[in-house]
Amino acid sequence: MSENPFREGLSRRKTPEPCTIVLFGASGDLTQRKLVPALYNLTREGLLSPKLAIVGFARRKKTNDQFRHEMLESVRKNVPGFDEKDLFWAEFSKTIFYQTGAFDSAEEYQALAVRLDDIERALGLPPNRLYYLATAPEHFGTIVRGLDAARLARPRSDPDRAGWARIVVEKPFGRDLESARSLNRELLRVLEEKQVFRIDHYLGKETVQNLMALRFANGIFEPLWNQKYVDHVQITVAESIGVEGRGGYYDQAGVLRDMIQNHMLQVLSLVAMEPPAALEADAIRDEKVKVLRALRRIPPADVDLHVVRAQYGAGTILGRLVPGYREEEGVSQDSRTETYVALRLSVDNWRWAGVPFLLRSGKRLPKRTTEICIQFKKPPLSLFGEQAACTVSPNALIVNVQPDEGISLRFGAKVPGPEIEVRQVKMDFRYGDSFGVPSPEAYERLLLDAMSGDSTLFTRRDEVEAAWTIMTDILEGWGRSTTPPLTYAAGSWGPEEAEKLFSGHEGRWRRL
Ligand code: BG6
Repeated sequence: MSENPFREGLSRRKTPEPCTIVLFGASGDLTQRKLVPALYNLTREGLLSPKLAIVGFARRKKTNDQFRHEMLESVRKNVPGFDEKDLFWAEFSKTIFYQTGAFDSAEEYQALAVRLDDIERALGLPPNRLYYLATAPEHFGTIVRGLDAARLARPRSDPDRAGWARIVVEKPFGRDLESARSLNRELLRVLEEKQVFRIDHYLGKETVQNLMALRFANGIFEPLWNQKYVDHVQITVAESIGVEGRGGYYDQAGVLRDMIQNHMLQVLSLVAMEPPAALEADAIRDEKVKVLRALRRIPPADVDLHVVRAQYGAGTILGRLVPGYREEEGVSQDSRTETYVALRLSVDNWRWAGVPFLLRSGKRLPKRTTEICIQFKKPPLSLFGEQAACTVSPNALIVNVQPDEGISLRFGAKVPGPEIEVRQVKMDFRYGDSFGVPSPEAYERLLLDAMSGDSTLFTRRDEVEAAWTIMTDILEGWGRSTTPPLTYAAGSWGPEEAEKLFSGHEGRWRRL
């Protein structure tokens, strides 16, 4: 038995049924950095059925052996502690196959169908298939139509070979409300909603999942979790990296599409939702979507009052000089794409009326850190305020999502001595200290769930569209505006103007 509580928990789950995972975009970065390493770890830990096949599908011509060799390289690079002498790789690699094919060629889907049948027969697998679309989004529709035409998108119902078909879709899911709707229509013309798994890797993070446990498995927080006691909520996703060779993609996206529409609004919905009726995918997603629908829309003309956008210039990070955004490869020299956004949102419902949710995210900030801060209201009477030495600050509950996973509660305590001096102290919970092991990779959990058919941690059609409704107003406002984004130096915490989103008593962005 493993001594790792995360693994133990996972191993108590029912092992997913044997299946074949077809990776579209098999030559891509995601397959190599995340997907194959995650499948390797899961299989090695015995969390997947030993009956498994992984089939890479991409345009480039390759043999099984060449593809296996590439995957070995990626496992070497991306699985910490990978042991070259370990015989497990030899076993695992026998389950990896490669099929050359263009996404838009009907014959090649037919060829894929024949190949899948052959592999399944050879390995004794049922026709359960998970198609993972790790490709650029413009291919999603084409691939789904190709699968449909080759009768691969439907569950097989032949009495002797019944099985399921599911599709995992990577982000970006659309670039505004209209394109997200049309992508949903395209997918759902062929598939049923329960076959579609729209991935958001933030939902696979332990600390994000722990938000539900924190709120609903404890009696002390939930009574305070509302407008009576909460002053405001701050959510920060700071990254020190720049665009890392993805300039071409990023310049068309910007941080609003890349981080806020998906990851940050998902986190916000978990912080703000009502207790679900049951711990089931649809019950939870019903509550999350209600929050997204309750977000107050920002009229495009008022966008600058609620949203601050900026782009990084050259600067220094950890003592290293880094170029400005416009100097990055693949980025246009007169780009107006934002690499930093701070915004103030309101959730117009009974629980949150009047409580601002302040969100910020940016690249090339001084460090990588993601946290959620629930800032409570100050005590009603400043009993200690007369004493010069006192700084009565509001209480705050801080969820550190990454990298130092944990939760801290900040409160005032009397400094020992004859004077009444109150100072801020922290009560800390650290995952590492309490559980002694690092959390698993988000992709491991999400792949396991998709194979088990559990869509709790995947976003539903209505959630995606509700999130885009809010973001599209902002994008429209920027589209009409003649004012370019502000600038900030790489290595700084973003533009000063972001402080203006706070009104008088609410304080300021946390110094992290
Ligand atoms: C991705 C974005 O979805 O999330 C990247 O496209 C970003 O731009 C990444 O760097 C951040 O993920 P994490 O897990 O490192 O916080």
